[in-house]
Amino acid sequence: MEKFIIKNNGPLLGRVRVNGAKNAVLPIMAATLLTNEICYLENVPDLRDVKAMKEVITHFGGEFIDISKNEKSIKIKKIITSEAPYELVQKMRASFFVMGPLLAKTGVARVSLPGGCAIGARPVDLHLKGFAALGAEITQGQGYIEARADELIGSTVYLDFPSVGATENIMMAAVLAKGETIIENAAEEPEIIDLSNFLNKMGANVRGAGTDTIRIEGVKTLKGTRHEIIPDRIETGTYMVAAAITRGDVVIENIVPAHIKPVIAKLKETGADLEIGEDVIRVNASNIRASVDLTTLPYPGFPTDMQAQFMALMTVLNGTSVINETVFENRFMHIPELSRLGANIRIEGHSAIVRGVSQLEGSEVVATDLRAGAALVLAGLVAKGETHVNNIYHIDRGYSNLESNLRNLGADIKRVTVEEINQE
Ligand code: EPZ
Repeated sequence: MEKFIIKNNGPLLGRVRVNGAKNAVLPIMAATLLTNEICYLENVPDLRDVKAMKEVITHFGGEFIDISKNEKSIKIKKIITSEAPYELVQKMRASFFVMGPLLAKTGVARVSLPGGCAIGARPVDLHLKGFAALGAEITQGQGYIEARADELIGSTVYLDFPSVGATENIMMAAVLAKGETIIENAAEEPEIIDLSNFLNKMGANVRGAGTDTIRIEGVKTLKGTRHEIIPDRIETGTYMVAAAITRGDVVIENIVPAHIKPVIAKLKETGADLEIGEDVIRVNASNIRASVDLTTLPYPGFPTDMQAQFMALMTVLNGTSVINETVFENRFMHIPELSRLGANIRIEGHSAIVRGVSQLEGSEVVATDLRAGAALVLAGLVAKGETHVNNIYHIDRGYSNLESNLRNLGADIKRVTVEEINQE
């Protein structure tokens, strides 16, 4: 097991470059199952979750070649199985994204139930509602879900919640269906648009991605293509908050400002100075002053994936902040850990009341999920003394070279294995 040891080392200063988006590359990698031709993916982030999805692609018969650190080629000559076993899916619930492509390509998909995680039950009922609307027969048993259809027929499906995963899985099932599929109340995240662009480059006919209504006209076959993954808007926001919490001055490069408007708006409300370029943003937080309230919402609202990081910032700003989490039912696991660092936070249902304190105190804390872990690192950057963040494998799922990037900005952070500590 590994941990980060972090010491307060003053304001972060300098430049950092953002990687490709985890939540774009994972569904796009699943979508390569839809063709027997080779696909080239560029700006692929070096993440645990990408390695996990590589295992998934290989399991189905895919050949995954590391052309370079950030460029991969994937070729699925022949899908050798239609089953995604428990050991694959429980490792990363995003493996569930294979269901749509498998159903579209082979007529059957048998995927172990992904189960919940720290932030919520994470049901897949909306994914299945979409597959059933396309004519698939859904059966469930022994921890598996199976979808089967001799032919998928385009249809209209209304998503009770604009689920990102359900929107993506249904899109991938519909691209080879007969006729038109309409997804109503679809998720509008930038990662949906990136997947749609990838599918259309393969020869699909997807219209309206990025709006609440997506129309997919089924086609016969899809071909290989080349695609550059969009920058990671949550990694971008995380470095913006790292600059803010340390009252630093950081330039964040290789970003899409339009994808992080809510984070820009809320940071401006705290008094931070932001300069926005075409693919770069500068956060100068020397004048940051006051707490702000926020409510997470589906895109284009404030992203739930930035809630924990923003809460860490609120723990050390003047005033009281009310943070409402409306997307996941249990995404406050970082609160007890932030409290161990001396934060003053009270939970009232889906709201957290954060009263700013003058100084956090370093302590042993545990990352419970990816973004909670990131929030604890941010808090550790300004806590007095040493902060040890444990279970950092969660962080490695979604951030590549986090500690080296922060060190380059002046942070005092190092990765150690827990056994090493016991030997000292
Ligand atoms: C995606 O998860 C992201 N993961 C999550 O990022 C992100 O937090 C989430 O979208 C919301 O933006 C990937 O893209 C790999 P949802 P997903 O389906 O698709 C409910 C991170 O930190 N729901 O939009 O699983 C669900 O319970 C991760 O990078 C149903 O009820 O999210 C939740 O309350 C964490 N039935 C809400 O919708 C369903 O069938 C949003 O879930 C599906 C979802």
